[in-house]
Amino acid sequence: MTFPSAAKPGLFIAFEGGDGAGKSTQAALLTQSLTDAGHSVVRTREPGGTPVGEKLRSLVLDHGQGEIDARCEALIFAAARAAHTVQVIAPAVARGEIVISDRYIDSSIAYQGAGRGLGTSEVQQINEWATENLWPDLTVLLDVTPLDGRNRRTAGAAAEDRLESEPDDFHADIRHAFLDLAAAHPERYLVLHAGLPIAELASAINTAVQTLLANTRGTP
Ligand code: TYD
Repeated sequence: MTFPSAAKPGLFIAFEGGDGAGKSTQAALLTQSLTDAGHSVVRTREPGGTPVGEKLRSLVLDHGQGEIDARCEALIFAAARAAHTVQVIAPAVARGEIVISDRYIDSSIAYQGAGRGLGTSEVQQINEWATENLWPDLTVLLDVTPLDGRNRRTAGAAAEDRLESEPDDFHADIRHAFLDLAAAHPERYLVLHAGLPIAELASAINTAVQTLLANTRGTP
């Protein structure tokens, strides 16, 4: 696995976690606080983030698209990610901007590798190829139990997509895969309990990002 070097100008931050973890809320709060501080921020999401990625998103998430087997699903997510990396993430980082992505490679390792049983190292390999080994500088993992995730999702109005509607043991496998990834690379993860108050989570995330900015740019 290779990681972006500390000398590069931009920063790449990914939010990961099970469905209902609150990633989008925290990604929005971090975007706002960094923008307020004068940083140039690109907020994006997976699957999606590009025109082709958004089409692939509806193909893989909407119900009623016909049968999509596990390998096909993994390759669709990887294809969307290839476009996202080359068209959005890498250029923004090269311009010195801060990219905040709602989900990235870890989601494929957890959902397709562990959840669908395709194998975490196999799914990691196809994604390293798809992204030319571009890994985030920091991954914020919002850890949520399957039950809490389901309760938080059903509290909202939106109907569950193809992945969300999988049973709890699927979501338990995903949770453990995320935690394993974080444990294997503690230097690039911030793991937080998703049930903490929103302001507390936002403050912990901000502190970690300020530290990273100070380390990579010399200034917060
Ligand atoms: P997302 O839009 O983040 O849903 P939510 O905001 O509810 O978390 O992600 C959509 C779904 O796609 C989610 O169930 C996770 C799944 N997914 C994968 O299975 N593999 C992937 O590589 C990605 C990026 C997402």
